[in-house]
Amino acid sequence: MRQVLRYVTRCNITVRGLAVNLPAENCGMEISMKNTFGNSLAVTLFGESHGPYIGAVLDGLAPGIEIDEELIASQLTKRRPSGRISTARVEKDEYIIASGVYKGRTTGTPLCILIPNTAQHSEDYEKTVGAARPGHADYTAHCKYHGYEDFNGGGHFSGRITAALVAAAAVVMPVLESKGIRIATHISSCASIADRGFEDYRKDFDTLGEAVFPVLDEKAGEKMREAIEQAAAEGDSVGGVLESVITGMPAGVGEPWFDSVESTIAHMLYSVPAVKGVQFGAGFDMVNGFGSEFNDPLRSENGRVVTVTNNNGGINGGITNGMPIVIRAAVKPTPSIYKEQDTIDLGTGENTKLKINGRHDPAIIHRAAVVVDSVLALTVYDLLAGRYGTDSMNTKGGTFDGYKY
Ligand SMILES: Cc1cc2nc3c(=O)[nH]c(=O)nc-3n(C[C@H](O)[C@H](O)[C@H](O)COP(=O)(O)O)c2cc1C
Repeated sequence: MRQVLRYVTRCNITVRGLAVNLPAENCGMEISMKNTFGNSLAVTLFGESHGPYIGAVLDGLAPGIEIDEELIASQLTKRRPSGRISTARVEKDEYIIASGVYKGRTTGTPLCILIPNTAQHSEDYEKTVGAARPGHADYTAHCKYHGYEDFNGGGHFSGRITAALVAAAAVVMPVLESKGIRIATHISSCASIADRGFEDYRKDFDTLGEAVFPVLDEKAGEKMREAIEQAAAEGDSVGGVLESVITGMPAGVGEPWFDSVESTIAHMLYSVPAVKGVQFGAGFDMVNGFGSEFNDPLRSENGRVVTVTNNNGGINGGITNGMPIVIRAAVKPTPSIYKEQDTIDLGTGENTKLKINGRHDPAIIHRAAVVVDSVLALTVYDLLAGRYGTDSMNTKGGTFDGYKY
């Protein structure tokens, strides 16, 4: 996906299967696929928060996947803002599938989803133009794009772009579902208020269902919502931790080193704006314990190898062991807050003060949950297509064979 050129003369390289011959002046420069992720299934994201459209292209889909319009719509609803705990910018998210589908099924050629932006208020950004929002990407985007970036609403760095990821993932979710692979995420904590952990995956996944504020303990959820409203009333924001589980993964998927399942999942999770930490299984909790506590003893049960505990979160040596993959993602408090902040003016480089306008989420965590489910679905699809082949990624059911004795 990413190649760094170190040649000093004209050079031939291959970037994602395309032969590229670069002139001398470009040799030594970094060439990377900037907005594309995936090997067997590549997802490309495009668009700006206040531009006419945002969207995604999926390349490498199996032909014949039935498009579940209701699922796409319901996943987008989960991401859409709601009530006082979210931004006041509410988009209808009516999407257009511009290519790659014929008679309701994927053709196998690139599938392009377009989502029009309809509720932009670019004037909100006019008064503060030039003042970089601390914690947001305004300053770093300016460094990279030399002032040509569209800063309105965070431009290409806006959480708005995640709507396209959610819609794209809803195309592949029925394939995973048909293979017995389920993915779910709950708000493990928000503003230091903890939800209960997963107890029975099957039941808990059903509980989370279509929830727009996905928690397992409703009382904890209520307290979290109050804390978000309180932060909003004070012009501030809060963060939290999302816990996700992927069940039904066959053993033996993944690569030992650089394309380990952890690396691949973490790569995609860190692409979600505001995710600042990722942990697998017991992760950082293991550091002060003993091997005897955290080793996950193996045993054979009804002809299947399982581990008694799952501290390693379903992955050993970068490869799935057939146990549920357990992931935690840290989501920071929303950077755009209404309190006055110190910053710099992007035009002059001078110190200045910023008091933002615009509509922002006082917490991202509840809206990010479905985004995390979505990037996990795209990643799992890519990993499975790499191991079992594109054509096996159909909705005909059955399970992928993991290792068998
Ligand atoms: C669903 C979602 C909604 C978001 N909403 C906002 C928002 O309203 N205001 C804001 O400043 N940041 C919001 N963000 C986060 C920023 O996009 C993000 O913090 C910024 O791009 C900088 O990236 P980083 O935090 O990963 O470094 C949102 C992120 C997501 C995933």
